Amino acid sequence: MSVVETHDWTTAGSIDDVLADDRVLTDPYPVYRRLHREAPVHWAAAWRSWVVSTYDGVATILRDPRWSTSQGSRGRMGWNVQHLEAGQRAKLDPIMSHYRAGMLSADPPDHTRIKGIVKHDFTPQSLERRATEIRGIADDLLARVYGSSEVDIIAAFAYPLPSVVVHDVLGLPRDDIDTITGWAEDIIAVLDSNRPDFDVCLRAQESLADARRYIRELLERRRRFPQDDVLTHFALAHDSISDAEVVGTCATFLTGGHETTTALIGNGVLRLLQDPPLYRALADDRALLPSAIEEFLRIESPAQRVTRFARVSLTLGGVNIEPETPVIALIGAANRDSTVFDRPDDLNLQRQPNRHLAFAAGVHSCIGAPLARLEARVAFTALLDAVESMELAEPKPDWLPIHAVRFQRRLPVRVKWRRRSP
Ligand code: HEM
Repeated sequence: MSVVETHDWTTAGSIDDVLADDRVLTDPYPVYRRLHREAPVHWAAAWRSWVVSTYDGVATILRDPRWSTSQGSRGRMGWNVQHLEAGQRAKLDPIMSHYRAGMLSADPPDHTRIKGIVKHDFTPQSLERRATEIRGIADDLLARVYGSSEVDIIAAFAYPLPSVVVHDVLGLPRDDIDTITGWAEDIIAVLDSNRPDFDVCLRAQESLADARRYIRELLERRRRFPQDDVLTHFALAHDSISDAEVVGTCATFLTGGHETTTALIGNGVLRLLQDPPLYRALADDRALLPSAIEEFLRIESPAQRVTRFARVSLTLGGVNIEPETPVIALIGAANRDSTVFDRPDDLNLQRQPNRHLAFAAGVHSCIGAPLARLEARVAFTALLDAVESMELAEPKPDWLPIHAVRFQRRLPVRVKWRRRSP
C-alpha cells in the first residue's frame, strides 16, 4: 500500500496559499519539497514567521548559540499573544512568566544550570533499569485488549504507555495522571496556535496555578522523603533552581515527553503496516529494531518544527533576519532533504548513516531522547511478541491537524494474536 498524500500542492498556487491551508498540516511533505526547491528561507505570512526547511539551515539554527528559544524578555509566549489587546495581555502575566522560566525557555548559563540538575536521570545507563518496568506497563496495556480482532493502537497502547512512563520518571503519582494531563494540555494550548483566544490563555493560567500548587506540595514532601525520581533531584537542588523554573521544566517534561513518544510508536506502526514486507522483515529480525526506530524518527518526525528567535541581526540563506523575529525550523522537512538523505521519502529500516534531527541539536537537544528510544524499543518488542500479524483496518491515516507534533488521532488495526503460554 502506498503512503497517502491527498493534495497536489505543486499546482495549488503560491507557497503562501498552501501554507495558509490547514490541510498542509496533515499532508506536509509535498510542500516541504516545494520549499526546498523554491524558497529554503521563506517569510510565511500565514504563520507570521520565517520558515527554514533545508537540513543545513535547520541544523545551523539549532546549533548556533546566537539563536534563542525565547523572544528576548517576552519569553516563548510573547509572539503568540501579540494579537490580543494590551489590556488582555496585561492580565496574562503569570502564564507569560511561566513561558520565561525553565529548561526550554532559558539560554546558557541558566539553561546549563537547570539541565545539569537532572541530566543524569536520562542517560542510557541510568534508564536501562527502567526497561523491565516499561515492559510491564506495555504488557499490561496489551493484556487489556488481548483477543480483540480490531484494536486502536493509539488509544490502547501508544497514548497511555508514554504517559505512565513520564509520570513515573518525574515521580508524579499515577492516580493523578488524568488531572495532570488536563493541566498540561491547557498550558501548552497557548503555543499550539499562532493566535490563541484570550479564553484559551486564561484557562492556561488557571491550570498553571493549580499545577504550581500541586508541584510545590510534592517538592516539599520530596525534600522530607527523597525518592529516586526527577522531582526529588529538583527538590534537593532548591538552592540552585527556583520553584518557577521547576514548574516550567516539569511542564516541558509532561508535554514534550508524552505525545512525541506516542507519535514515534504510532507513526512507526503505521509506516510498517503500510509496507507489509518491511513489517515482516522487522518481525522476523528484531536486530533491525534500533535502526528501524531511527528511521521512524526521520521519516515521520514526531516534532515537525521548533521555533527560534535571532538574538542579533543574522543572515540566513542570503536573507537578513531581524532580532526577536520568529523562525520556524522545520525538522520534518530537514529530515526529508535529498541532499543529505538518499531517497528521503523511502522507509529504509537499515539506513546508515541516519543523522536525522528529530531530537533537535545543540544546547536544547532533547534530554529525553534515550528514554524515548528505550520506550520505542520496549513497545515494539512487546507488540511483536504479542501478535502473530497485524494489518491496517482503514487505508487512510487519521492525522491530527496540529502544527507541533505529527501524530494520529486513531490507528485501528486488525490483529491476529499469538496464543498465550498457559
Ligand atoms: C520521540 C520522542 C521525542 C521527540 C521526537 C522529542 C523531540 C524534542 C525536540 C525536537 C526538542 C527541542 C525543542 C525545542 O528546541 O524547541 C526536545 C526538547 C526536550 N525534550 Fe524531547 N522529544 C521526545 C521525547 C521526550 C521525552 C520522553 C522527554 C522526557 C521525559 C522529553 C523531554 C524534553 C525536554 C525537557 C526538552 C527540553 C530540552 C532543553 O531545553 O535542553 N522529550 N525534544
